[in-house]
Amino acid sequence: MTVIAIDGTFASGKGTLGKRLALHYKIPYLDTGKLYRAVAFDLMETKNSPENVIEAIKAAKKLKPEDLKNSALKSGNVAVNASKVAAHPEVRKELLKFQKDFAKKGGILDGRDIGTVICPNAKVKLFIDAKAETRARRRHLELNSYQESISFETVFKQLIERDNRDMNRKNAPLKISDGAHIIDTTDMTADDVFKKARDIIDSILI
Ligand code: DC
Repeated sequence: MTVIAIDGTFASGKGTLGKRLALHYKIPYLDTGKLYRAVAFDLMETKNSPENVIEAIKAAKKLKPEDLKNSALKSGNVAVNASKVAAHPEVRKELLKFQKDFAKKGGILDGRDIGTVICPNAKVKLFIDAKAETRARRRHLELNSYQESISFETVFKQLIERDNRDMNRKNAPLKISDGAHIIDTTDMTADDVFKKARDIIDSILI
């Protein structure tokens, strides 16, 4: 089964790319960040801290596929808490099976540890990144489109904190996996990124 593993930094454009590639190649797509967001959302709803490992494990255990459709998962607060929840190795372990089962059937997965932990043997590995300021600007625009009033400075500060947590946690930190093709989207449009990714994928799969 063909697996395309997409990893990268927050707001680098990997989600947009993953969805477009899935439509183009007519294969399933999983945004694995939603698993961590759904666990964080559950903890917020039940007034538990994202640092509460016991409750986080419980939330991960009872996660259902339909929980991933919740539009509230897009919010800035959920995103911040998701990166805290994602630092617990026990939570990561709990969410592993869902991701591995998805990958068994083939498809596109995007996240932080897809090429390194979830699908180290993926045929295609992409690593998507962009300058922090560019990513914060994109995220700021996105949050404003959901009517979340938040300043650019706050978005930038949160993004740097999240980058640090995602890259420096002990368990499955975000890093460029062996054999990954790096795309820096700083000065690229979504169409440019889509074309570049297709060129890479077609050169590997054909
Ligand atoms: O991609 P995202 O912003 O929706 O991810 C939310 C958080 O979940 C992010 O801070 C990192 C974490 N995450 C992870 O650790 N591993 C993944 N495979 C996907 C996301």
